[in-house]
Amino acid sequence: MINKKIGLGLLTSLFLLTGCADENKVQTETKRSLDYCITQTKRTLTELENNGEGLIDYTLMPRNISDTSSSWHCRKATKEEWCAGFWPGILWYGYEYSEDEELLKEAENFTGSLEFLSNIPAYDHDLGFLVFCSYGNGYRLTGNPEYKKIILRTADTLATLFNPTVGTMLSWPRECEPNDWPHNTIMDNMINLEMLFWAAKNGENKYLYDVAVAHADKTMECHFRDDYTSYHVAVYDTITGNLIKGVTHQGYDDTSMWARGQAWGIYGYTVVYRETGDPKYLDFAEKITDVFISGLPEDKIPYWDFNDPKIPDSPRDASAAAIVASALIELSDYVRAEKSELYFDTAKAMISSLSSEKYICGESKPAFLNHSTGHKPNGSEIDASIIYADYYYMEALLRLKKKS
Ligand code: GLY
Repeated sequence: MINKKIGLGLLTSLFLLTGCADENKVQTETKRSLDYCITQTKRTLTELENNGEGLIDYTLMPRNISDTSSSWHCRKATKEEWCAGFWPGILWYGYEYSEDEELLKEAENFTGSLEFLSNIPAYDHDLGFLVFCSYGNGYRLTGNPEYKKIILRTADTLATLFNPTVGTMLSWPRECEPNDWPHNTIMDNMINLEMLFWAAKNGENKYLYDVAVAHADKTMECHFRDDYTSYHVAVYDTITGNLIKGVTHQGYDDTSMWARGQAWGIYGYTVVYRETGDPKYLDFAEKITDVFISGLPEDKIPYWDFNDPKIPDSPRDASAAAIVASALIELSDYVRAEKSELYFDTAKAMISSLSSEKYICGESKPAFLNHSTGHKPNGSEIDASIIYADYYYMEALLRLKKKS
């Protein structure tokens, strides 16, 4: 019979060894996935070069690859194209990981095409997505003072959409009249707060901090149901500031939980907690995360809407998984131990699924991931590769690499 002390010692060593082996495995797999992202990014650059017969048009941004196509559909970087910042962001992340000077050069070139956004009035709320994924990452990695000026100007522009009577930023000025949505705020708008917090700090502008906090507070009060699932759109009265109704635009219906909307909320409140340190946002981030995690299918990649009655014969949304995986890696640093383990394990499981044959594009396409759903009710970008899924997947991998 083994001496009790030796037995315990052996068990502890075995536990530590298994832990180390698991950690090494995560590190190896994360590195393999990041190398894959670099390969695909370079393939995309080659495709863009070939399309332009040797010269890249830096105003054309990869947006999606449909399930029946194998090459990128690009869109012009105009004020209407909300996704134009993700491709420059991917190039910045690629440079951060690989330190490859070609990626740096191309990140600078594509990012430069978005400067105009800092010099025009706000078209809609997407300025945070557009300018913080591109210039934000660019400034973080290079400290270029011009980038800082552009971000600060854009944050001021974004704040012009703030309505103090309501307490949130207007998301879609163009939708006010046709839909009779006098002041509309969409859940996605939570992502834009990060740029406001950054600009408040780096431009010493307390007003931007106050706008971000007011927006987060009102959204917390009005944009979620009692069970912590979110509406996509909250419609407010501009005279009283009260909520008129919660509706959907991209989800299944007004009562359903649209996967990406909830994902934006989880990511957004994680940032709000990081930037304010106020525990009420942490508590809220946990509640809206828990309802998301508890409704996930076995492979941890959500269906496009949690309440689509056609589930399981319904498309997934890999982008929502990528956004949440990235957020959970951060959130797992803030919560108590047992929750931390759940969140970190869920993030790892999501990343592992996304990195499997089922979701990865591999040689078939130059994107990173298949199976995202953009706008199902509109019949667009269903079961496709979409640029923001790739952006958040790479962000999640980099966060995982830093943590493991
Ligand atoms: N911001 C729009 C979307 O998530 O599709």
